[in-house]
Amino acid sequence: MSPVESGTVEETTLTPDVQWWQSAVIYQVYPRSFADGDGDGVGDLAGLTARLPYIASLGVDGIWMTPFQPSPQLDQGYDVSDYCGVDPLFGTMEQFDALLELAHSLGLRILLDVVPNHCSSEHPLFQQALAAGPGSQKRDMFHFVEGSDDDVPPNNWQSVFGGRAWSRANPESLTDTDWYLHLFSAGQPDWNWRNPAVGDYFDGVLRFWFDKGVDGLRIDVAHALFKAEGLPDSPSAGGVVDGLRSNPQVSDQEEVHEVYRRWRTLAEKYEPHRLLVGEVNLEPARAARYTRADEMQQAFAFAFVKLGWDPAAWAAAGNELEAARRLHGATPTWALENHDIVRSVTRFGGGELGAMRARAALVALLGLPGPAYLYQGQELGLPEVDVPLECRVDPMWARGGVCRDGARVPLPWIADAALNHGFSLAEPAIAFQASEPWLPQPADWGTHAIELQQEDPESSLALVTKALEMRRLLWKSEVFGPNDGGSWRVEAGNLLICERSADFFVAVAMGTEPVKLPAGTVLLSAAPLAEDGWLQPDNAAWVLRR
Ligand code: BGC
Repeated sequence: MSPVESGTVEETTLTPDVQWWQSAVIYQVYPRSFADGDGDGVGDLAGLTARLPYIASLGVDGIWMTPFQPSPQLDQGYDVSDYCGVDPLFGTMEQFDALLELAHSLGLRILLDVVPNHCSSEHPLFQQALAAGPGSQKRDMFHFVEGSDDDVPPNNWQSVFGGRAWSRANPESLTDTDWYLHLFSAGQPDWNWRNPAVGDYFDGVLRFWFDKGVDGLRIDVAHALFKAEGLPDSPSAGGVVDGLRSNPQVSDQEEVHEVYRRWRTLAEKYEPHRLLVGEVNLEPARAARYTRADEMQQAFAFAFVKLGWDPAAWAAAGNELEAARRLHGATPTWALENHDIVRSVTRFGGGELGAMRARAALVALLGLPGPAYLYQGQELGLPEVDVPLECRVDPMWARGGVCRDGARVPLPWIADAALNHGFSLAEPAIAFQASEPWLPQPADWGTHAIELQQEDPESSLALVTKALEMRRLLWKSEVFGPNDGGSWRVEAGNLLICERSADFFVAVAMGTEPVKLPAGTVLLSAAPLAEDGWLQPDNAAWVLRR
């Protein structure tokens, strides 16, 4: 029974000083794989615009779009060659403006990705730096360092994508013995944030998009912008692994906080204030420092991304985040999936079991205290795809062996495989055309199709839509509030509990036997209850103590 039917929850008006983003759920769009509007097999702005009503119908508050700016597409757009444009692969600036207008009219906010750690080696400023030669001011926008020997780079830093983090600026030249730093691929040179001109340049980038009415930014590798003065060797033997954490010289330098203070000031010059959300892949106590009152408003909590179906580990991670919240007032911003992470269905065991657990995890996620992000296809329960070797394009796969393509396969809109599951639309109307998608869709993709799930009240899509509706109601009725915390524990039978407030808790059955819930009214569950007040294994519930 829903609280509306039972009369358990009454709607009141949301307290005016609660900011929109405190209760928000944002849907991440990976434009290449969302919908293709021009039939070339690559998703684009026209496709996304045509499908905005679908996103609005989920009941989310906004969209985060991964990069669509001009780029050689070496790292699928995370190698930006023009921060203030639209890559023709995705469309035009006029199309972006139309998208923004339609999104706003549908009540959806738009967040864009900004990539301030590095650009593309095709970026004009990098090209000018290369041409200007050793010792020039232009090279000081990046990390160019003279090397004594062809084979000995300036220090021992490793690239996140594998191999060393340095390449020769001009391997053909006998006089240009500089190397340049790239924490990712050689096509992604790192900016030198110790040069004030870099900060000024990015102020312009932020203003450009904020002036257009973009509602906020997701900040790529936000903790890596500053490198230790003098670029010393990393003491860690293995170099950079685990999201840059193991190289203290490139991660979490104190100076980086000044950037976010400056950006927050800029974001608050706009009405409504613009939102900053950081990809800060650090332990919770360090990550929380990026969301102090004068820095970003949000930083992703990826706590459960690296964990299996283990209640003690979830409770420990949850309590660690809560401790960080108490210390810095940093409410966790939850995410279980994104374009870099193996899909949760697969992480949690794959097949039927993985699908059940992913549903339970989704219900848990949306009931936890704090904003949440969903990744396109997560609402459909899409599994990770084992992309055939010859079709893999991820540079990380090419350099290091880890492949992220399996979470990036184009969405199945319709069941019909002959039409490539409706991924490509024929303009101007919504008709389909069978264009070869940029990554192949697997044989069973049609079973997850949106058109089927929209008709099925038991589908993953129906569950997410219901959870989002209930979540809004709980915010409106002030059962959910901005100051809710999370007190986590594991009860008998491996029942994970997160007490959000005196009134509400989330329960996840992570054991092998049905478990009895503590007393309360079940508002939502991922699957039907075993019997009144009992959860089957791999089910989750929202419980109101009234
Ligand atoms: C993005 C990745 C990208 C990397 C380099 C990450 O955090 O999410 O997709 O490859 O930054 O820009």
